[in-house]
Amino acid sequence: MDKTREISVADFSLTNLPDDYYEDPYLYYRALREQAPIHRFADGSYLFTRHADLARIYRNPKVFSSDKKKMFKPLFGDTLLYEHHTTSLVFNDPPLHTHVRKAIGDALSQKTLVAMEPGLRKLTIGLLDKIEAEGEFDVISDYAVLVPVDVIGNLLRIPHEDRGVLQRWASAILGALEFDLSKEKRDYGNRCVKEFLDYLTALVEDRRKNLSDDHDDILSRLIKWEADGFVLSDKQLYHQCIFILNAGHETTTNLIGHSVYCLQTHPRQLQLLKENPELIDSAIEEILRYEAPVQLGNRLTTEEVQFDDVTIPAETILTFAIGAANRDPAMYPNPDRLDITRHPRNHMAFGGGIHTCAGLNVARLEARVTIPALFNRFPKLKITGEPVRDKRARFRGILSLPMSTH
Ligand code: HEM
Repeated sequence: MDKTREISVADFSLTNLPDDYYEDPYLYYRALREQAPIHRFADGSYLFTRHADLARIYRNPKVFSSDKKKMFKPLFGDTLLYEHHTTSLVFNDPPLHTHVRKAIGDALSQKTLVAMEPGLRKLTIGLLDKIEAEGEFDVISDYAVLVPVDVIGNLLRIPHEDRGVLQRWASAILGALEFDLSKEKRDYGNRCVKEFLDYLTALVEDRRKNLSDDHDDILSRLIKWEADGFVLSDKQLYHQCIFILNAGHETTTNLIGHSVYCLQTHPRQLQLLKENPELIDSAIEEILRYEAPVQLGNRLTTEEVQFDDVTIPAETILTFAIGAANRDPAMYPNPDRLDITRHPRNHMAFGGGIHTCAGLNVARLEARVTIPALFNRFPKLKITGEPVRDKRARFRGILSLPMSTH
């Protein structure tokens, strides 16, 4: 039976999601795409689920603004979470966005990636040695979490001993973007922004004292950035750092976690990859399409727009479902099938347009190194317990996945 027929999306709301949504949001996305592709929420905002509509939104940053002041003021009030989420480049339009993007520049270029790879391989081998010694392990906490923290820590040259706390801060600050935010979570998110700011104030002061032309890490670049009379204020600088540190690890942890889980639960696909290791790049793109770590995005209309027969006024908040666009049959035949030979063109896991993920090749490299290394090292790898899913709508990931190497 077609389960989507049973789902009525007339009252679908992101603030009141059914329990089974977190297990399989794709059933709901499909029902939305089929029954209400331009779905109006009770508060007058809209949800989009078709690939073509998302492509249009991404292509027109002037009409579909990333500025989040209107959206976040009622959620966060006059707080540090508001200051953070409205100052970072991802939630701003040009000119701030353009400057920060340029400042990051080739800190995430191919040259940086090539330089990064040997260290990443060494780190991976060290983690696999520990896993081998244990035999039983959790692939999320013992592997998928540890690689991105190290990589993003290196990119900003964060001292090794300070990296442990980054994941807690990131999870609380990004978690505050969820739709059903409780007062406790909001307060905790604000505390984490404060701790992060205090930490960065000291770090930046120290970095400024010891800045040299040799330093090409992202933090030094942002400190040194000056163009057309524009320099980042301290506040702007700190919030870009917080965003980049947060953006760079939780999402990649979830890509690594999904990759292990998807391949392990699709043994024919895993076998195909083992027999054809050159399929790794296509496999990673397909897993990104199939289980996008960032599921939802937002924009604000700056003028009246028309989608089909729906007229949407200026100043309307739009939510769009990347997870739905990535499974749109108009774009990907048989979209609910994981097929590592697919080479999924124009999937939206990294967004699109001027805000396309600046770290996409870093994330790809991390997956390309860690996934084959794990499966090659442990041919008898198996899942030994139930995966624990993160109950969040905006970010999708696995919190815990017990495994054994034998
Ligand atoms: C699998 C891992 C990742 C996924 C799925 C992902 C996804 C995304 C998405 C969807 C956006 C666009 C948001 C929007 O338009 O509203 C974005 C932006 C961004 N990401 Fe990633 N990301 C990943 C890894 C990384 C890494 C490793 C870094 C840094 C090293 C990073 C840095 C950024 C930055 C700086 C932006 C803002 C770009 C801009 O506004 O111009 N991301 N990411």
